[in-house]
Amino acid sequence: MHRRGFLAAGLATVLSGSRALAQMKMDGASDMGSMPGTDMGDHAGHDMGAQAPAVLPEGETLRELPPLANETGRPGLFRARLTAASATTRFAADRDTPILAYNGMIPGPLIEAYEGDRVEIAFANRIEGEQSTIHWHGMPVPADQDGNPMDPVAAGADRVYTFELPEGSAGSYWYHPHPHGKTAEQVYRGLAGAFVVKAKADPVPAEYGDTVLMFTDLRLAADGSMPENTMADLMNGRVGDHVLVNGQKNPRLAVAMGAKLRLRLYNATNARFLRLAFGNAAMTVIGSDGGLLEAPMAADEILLSPAERVELVVAFDRPGTVTLTTLDYDRGWMGPGRPADAGLTLLTVDVSDTPVQAMPTLPERLRPIAQLGQPTVSRRLVFTETMVMNAAGMEMGFLINGKAFDMRRVDIVAKAGETELWEIVNQADMDHPFHLHGTQFQVIERERGGKVAKPPYLAWKDTVNVARGETVRLLLRQERAGPRMYHCHILEHEQLGMMGIVDVQA
Ligand code: C2O
Ligand code: CU
Ligand code: CU
Repeated sequence: MHRRGFLAAGLATVLSGSRALAQMKMDGASDMGSMPGTDMGDHAGHDMGAQAPAVLPEGETLRELPPLANETGRPGLFRARLTAASATTRFAADRDTPILAYNGMIPGPLIEAYEGDRVEIAFANRIEGEQSTIHWHGMPVPADQDGNPMDPVAAGADRVYTFELPEGSAGSYWYHPHPHGKTAEQVYRGLAGAFVVKAKADPVPAEYGDTVLMFTDLRLAADGSMPENTMADLMNGRVGDHVLVNGQKNPRLAVAMGAKLRLRLYNATNARFLRLAFGNAAMTVIGSDGGLLEAPMAADEILLSPAERVELVVAFDRPGTVTLTTLDYDRGWMGPGRPADAGLTLLTVDVSDTPVQAMPTLPERLRPIAQLGQPTVSRRLVFTETMVMNAAGMEMGFLINGKAFDMRRVDIVAKAGETELWEIVNQADMDHPFHLHGTQFQVIERERGGKVAKPPYLAWKDTVNVARGETVRLLLRQERAGPRMYHCHILEHEQLGMMGIVDVQA
């Protein structure tokens, strides 16, 4: 059980691991030189040249994500274009940051469509020298439209993604690249956007508005650039220096006293766990990854692991300032340099003392959620982390059932329309957020240290945190045939092997 000590000691040799090496650019030589030292996780210390560290402005008015315009006027059809390309932005007032962006924006444009719509998105990959895809995270799209690593779009190439949004699919989804071996980097460089599917009949009062808060995690070097991943990033997942909301650091939002807001919170970071509280404003959870719950649930705090979403109604009943802040959460950290994750202010809300017109109350029932019923198949997926000694040296592995991802291997064969029980067992030293493509699932049980707990409510999810030492049991049913990915959504772990393929047969 001296795993952590062993790990830290082995860091120097980890570097020669071929898989890890493939992830590192050799121009990170300065990182490599300092690797065995104690500053390997010290993000702020990177690339400190002559320039002072970048300071990000805070307190700007929260911007709404710019919507992706629908190019047709035809009802029931959403047609648009997304181009992924290099761009430049300014996070810090005085220096440029080269990024990757969809349509030049970071985060990408907000896609809003309705249940029943047909979606046609023409994707142009203009990223120099890199293949990419667009994956529709959480959405019920056919396997060959889902931007799998097996269907790359070459640099300079185009393709159209088409799918229909079924009735009942309203929810808070997102889109991001999923190319083999490049997902983590393309996402932290800026490629991610929100995709909200709206219900035709929405039980949530329109007076609450509908605001997306997309959290991303930025690390800026003194020269304004985004540093490459370090060894610490490859092990723990990349955690940045600034958590941004819709691309801004701690923006401000003004509301009238008594206002209620519908907020969709997205954890679009590579690897940051967000345990959140909203000061003295009352939070009510109304939805999860895949849409509304059956009934609203009051909450004091929320844990959003990477890729999870939650829909909240927040009541601003008292005048003054309310902040959305992070609380401490220990998700397991390898080596030194665990980032301070408590006490960050992500958003500041100024509540005026002029009251709003009366706000309608939330209905007691939001929608029914069907039980998935008795499973006919059960599967067990065991997550482990390993250090392997091979000819090249020490290599860190992130495995599912003892195997690292192989694009040519089918790990599970399933049948469309059958209810399955999946047991995700985390035998590793870090939490791993489990994600499955193609469908939404229901968590039915969590087990840790021999204690079994039922979730407080039924919800549709596509990502669930599996804490170290924990087992999470879930029910799912894939309705569409084709290969689907499942993986840890700490994107560096996904990239280093913690991913598999379930082939769903008709
Ligand atoms: Cu959000 Cu397979 O990814
Ligand atoms: Cu996904
Ligand atoms: Cu992981």
